[in-house]
Amino acid sequence: PKYIWLSRHGESIYNVEKKIGGDSSLSERGFQYAKKLEQLVKESAGEINLTVWTSTLKRTQQTANYLPYKKLQWKALDELDAGVCDGMTYEEIEKEYPEDFKARDNDKYEYRYRGGESYRDVVIRLEPVIMELERQENVLIITHQAVLRCIYAYFMNVPQEESPWMSIPLHTLIKLEPRAYGTKVTKIKANI
Ligand code: F6P
Repeated sequence: PKYIWLSRHGESIYNVEKKIGGDSSLSERGFQYAKKLEQLVKESAGEINLTVWTSTLKRTQQTANYLPYKKLQWKALDELDAGVCDGMTYEEIEKEYPEDFKARDNDKYEYRYRGGESYRDVVIRLEPVIMELERQENVLIITHQAVLRCIYAYFMNVPQEESPWMSIPLHTLIKLEPRAYGTKVTKIKANI
């Protein structure tokens, strides 16, 4: 591919409430980001033809909603499944499942939520997405924090075990240019 853009969905209601997982809508700030995204892409690439990939969750589709490009949904881009912890805050998890909370902090890559997934599980389900991405030109991927960490680590050649700790902020468009000697990265903040 020539360019790959990565973005988290705009801020969601669950982000504001500090709850993980779920399928909530964007917050007002999140919608502001969605409305600004086309301008950010154009700043970064001019008039270019690209395809937008989202997950099947509402917040990524709402973020893509105002973009005038072809769109494709992937179930494999859905956020890491937090199983029984879905919809809880980290504080609630620590109270309800203190051992799990500790185990996750000790080995965040391997820790699998009860009834859910680990980062390793996400890396495995992303394989077909990455393969298709390698064959495409100019794709903008709008997905979730954990999923983006894995995709970003892949292109940055960072060992996957480190991906759970990488910083992928909200309301920031990341542009990747894969090259023979490494990937060039540019980040554009939306200031929202
Ligand atoms: O809080 C947003 C979120 O995308 C959650 O839905 C998800 O569980 C979490 O981030 C993943 O981040 P971490 O692996 O650091 O808990």
